[in-house]
Amino acid sequence: MDEKLSESWNLIVEELKEDINKKEARKELFTFVLKCFCQELERKGKIEEILKTFETALKFYGQDSNILIELGSFFAKFNRDIEAIDIFSQAYSNDENNLRAYQCLLNVKSKIARWHFQMLNDEERNESFRKAINYWIEKGDKKTVLDIGTGTGILSLYASKCSQVKEIFAVESDQIMCTIAAKVFNENKEMDKLVKLIHKNSTEIIVGKDIPRKCNLVVSEILDCGIFGEGVLETFIHAKEHLLEKDGGKIVPHKVIVNVAGYNSKFLCSNSILLNETFNEYIFLDNYRLVADRSDPYDGEYVDKIKDFKIVTNTCAALESYEPIISGAVPNMNHW
Ligand SMILES: C[S@@+](CC[C@H](N)C(=O)[O-])C[C@H]1O[C@@H](n2cnc3c(N)ncnc32)[C@H](O)[C@@H]1O
Repeated sequence: MDEKLSESWNLIVEELKEDINKKEARKELFTFVLKCFCQELERKGKIEEILKTFETALKFYGQDSNILIELGSFFAKFNRDIEAIDIFSQAYSNDENNLRAYQCLLNVKSKIARWHFQMLNDEERNESFRKAINYWIEKGDKKTVLDIGTGTGILSLYASKCSQVKEIFAVESDQIMCTIAAKVFNENKEMDKLVKLIHKNSTEIIVGKDIPRKCNLVVSEILDCGIFGEGVLETFIHAKEHLLEKDGGKIVPHKVIVNVAGYNSKFLCSNSILLNETFNEYIFLDNYRLVADRSDPYDGEYVDKIKDFKIVTNTCAALESYEPIISGAVPNMNHW
């Protein structure tokens, strides 16, 4: 596969060297081959070659934002944040409508994943969680709470406002988010005695060591835009087995529905891989199947901000967990 990719890369570079007028017509294909080739180089650990390849690419396409974004993403992957910020800034200043450049820039600048801000501004989500937590603590008599993936600490904060709550264990695996949660808990004095912050992955928590006993309410928002990307299944299965009281323990949320719909958007497609017969002439994929890179299987977008985005099919439920992970209905959890 690598030889084929390197052959494809050399072919398209030679073609452009011979006739630079083909530049615009070849742009989409060029970016695609560039990306595949560099992913292959990355798998082989040939970091310097990746940078040289991008140097060549930028000779043809100058300041093309999408190529700059690909380059910036490699810098970010290799923890070369300063260079990544520089490249994403260039991509964004070249094209201020480029949503991806803007998001990448924010991500690498803050090191706090952008979706934390989106989640915290999602009032419907917050209110659904607040109501469900309040319901189980005040009416459901659940007094010991485990907040898995506390992030900024918002769900622990909601639990701490309930009069019946006795103790809250807030678990967070990410160091930066843990520091933020500590600040939030510190600022909210009433949380001091109630909340214990634990910097660990929940699957490493040991009852009797990290927490004194099993909890009777687990709250957790580790559902990414595609539901399973944050390891919700492993985490909940582990929590149910090891961290939650067997009798009457509850998990919020307890049910998931994944809806799917077809869409049309040149903008979104240009950020993904599009294979068509034109490409077959240049890349030799007859005996290969393209699969998503497992570390980043999907992405989410605010589609209402994408001008050419259009839903072209009906929406239907592709997956519904009709058997709750822990039985017991949660009221007012329409959204999550
Ligand atoms: C989607 S955020 C939710 C943050 C916060 N609970 C909220 O609702 O705004 C998920 C957080 O959980 C953390 N996380 C995911 N799985 C975890 C696990 N098994 N144990 C501890 N932290 C986890 C991530 O680092 C991230 O900060």
